[in-house]
Amino acid sequence: MQLRRRHLLLPLALSFLAAALTVARAHNITRLLAKHPEFSTFNHYLTETHLAAEINSRTTITVMALDNAAMSRLLAPHPTIATLKNVLSLHVLLDYFGPKKLHQITNGTALAATLFQATGSAPGSTGFVNITDLKGGKVGFAPEDNNGRLDTYFVKGLEQIPYNISIIQISNALPSDVAAAPTPGPSEMNLTRLMSAHGCKVFADTLDANADAMKTYEDNVEGGLTTFCPLDDPFKQFLPKYKNLSAPGKASFLEFFAIPMYLSMAMLKSNNGPMNTLATDGASKYDFTVQNDGEEVTLKTRVNKVKITGTLLDEQPLAIYSIDKVLMPKELFKTAALTPAPAPAPEKAADSPKSSKAKSPPATADSPADSPESDPADQTADSNGSVRFKSARSGFLVLSLWFGVHFLL
Ligand SMILES: *[C@@H]1O[C@H](CO)[C@@H](O)[C@H](O)[C@H]1NC(C)=O
Ligand SMILES: *[C@@H]1O[C@H](CO)[C@@H](O)[C@H](O)[C@H]1NC(C)=O
Ligand SMILES: *[C@@H]1O[C@H](CO)[C@@H](O)[C@H](O)[C@H]1NC(C)=O
Ligand SMILES: *[C@@H]1O[C@H](CO)[C@@H](O)[C@H](O)[C@H]1NC(C)=O
Ligand SMILES: *[C@@H]1O[C@H](CO)[C@@H](O)[C@H](O)[C@H]1NC(C)=O
Ligand SMILES: *[C@@H]1O[C@H](CO)[C@@H](O)[C@H](O)[C@H]1NC(C)=O
Ligand SMILES: *[C@@H]1O[C@H](CO)[C@@H](O)[C@H](O)[C@H]1NC(C)=O
Repeated sequence: MQLRRRHLLLPLALSFLAAALTVARAHNITRLLAKHPEFSTFNHYLTETHLAAEINSRTTITVMALDNAAMSRLLAPHPTIATLKNVLSLHVLLDYFGPKKLHQITNGTALAATLFQATGSAPGSTGFVNITDLKGGKVGFAPEDNNGRLDTYFVKGLEQIPYNISIIQISNALPSDVAAAPTPGPSEMNLTRLMSAHGCKVFADTLDANADAMKTYEDNVEGGLTTFCPLDDPFKQFLPKYKNLSAPGKASFLEFFAIPMYLSMAMLKSNNGPMNTLATDGASKYDFTVQNDGEEVTLKTRVNKVKITGTLLDEQPLAIYSIDKVLMPKELFKTAALTPAPAPAPEKAADSPKSSKAKSPPATADSPADSPESDPADQTADSNGSVRFKSARSGFLVLSLWFGVHFLL
């Protein structure tokens, strides 16, 4: 009996151990830089801007670190955290350059793409860095539009994990007017205009037309907001269903597409699990599950599942992602197998005070294997999903521990 149970658990426990080992092996920029106290300010701001998570999620990269003195000069004009993020992301090259490779660049010069280029905030090629081998063994760096000046120099290598991550010191921050340009404060950001400009015009217009939902969004931008906007084609097709909802149903539906906290793509990938939305007003109401699917990130409810197709904007405290289909909350739509008519009674009054809503953080990271929706029996449940989920998860942990003990014995 016990032997059979062990066989059943073996694949489960092995995948758990494999996941633990993978996590242990990936690099951690915070830990690597902690060995070099003269880079503590740089390290602090990598965490503060959430760039650390972005760096940890990538391989084949080079971090050009600034020591505390260079950071003081950079911080002197008191840039906002969003501006600082742009500047620091220009210091992360999307290629591996150890000290040796820097001195062996073909033809003595190269252009390297940076994280600034990859976040969509850099216009044109302003997110590229020119690396040039200078006379006397010096290596110079400059933003691509450098007007012939290379005023930043390689100082020394700090940490090298071949092919994965290289951390080098450079003499001072790369001078970039574009990266250092002041970013608009959250209160100056016009959310719906940003969405419209990036392929989500129909959703943005719908949101603009709903004063109630619009206010909820605006009240939350300052404190951090992550929104998922359905692209124009799928949302246009969905409009008849939307128009069929009651007034409070419409507001809840629109509020369902935003999480009341800032989440970068790397944070979404490492925070799998149930997420509360702006429409949440009780345990597991109007929530959805974030889950990695290979390199992709999916959002799902008991009704359907959608895929994140792109980052439209990532400017802390606001992140806007596009999704390929309209995610449907279980509170308003039945599962595909049942009648498609929307449920008539939404759970809350249209004029309930939304700004007072609890901003609960997402559940702690879970392995993608243990999602509540993976159990078909769950499809019929309605409001006790998260309770069942929690007990399933602790059961899983107990089983893993049980296996660990037997494994050791
Ligand atoms: C990286 O290391 C820091 C400091 O040791 C730790 O606080 C943080 O949780 C680590 N991050 C990850 C993703 O393991
Ligand atoms: C190096 O220079 C030669 C001749 O100018 C050119 O043909 C080649 O494409 C260059 N290589 C790189 C990697 O830029
Ligand atoms: C880098 O900048 C230097 C100095 O302006 C220039 O001579 C070189 O061609 C640039 N390299 C590339 C790859 O654009
Ligand atoms: C480099 O990253 C890969 C994952 O992309 C990992 O499997 C490998 O162990 C890492 N190498 C080192 C030396 O950390
Ligand atoms: C945002 O922009 C849209 C369209 O450009 C406009 O209709 C709306 O009034 C603006 N909202 C605010 C708060 O300025
Ligand atoms: C709208 O609701 C009615 C009544 O519940 C239903 O018969 C109809 O199919 C719905 N239309 C759409 C597009 O969902
Ligand atoms: C949810 O769980 C509670 C406590 O376990 C139970 O009393 C209640 O009937 C359940 N509701 C549903 C809809 O299953």
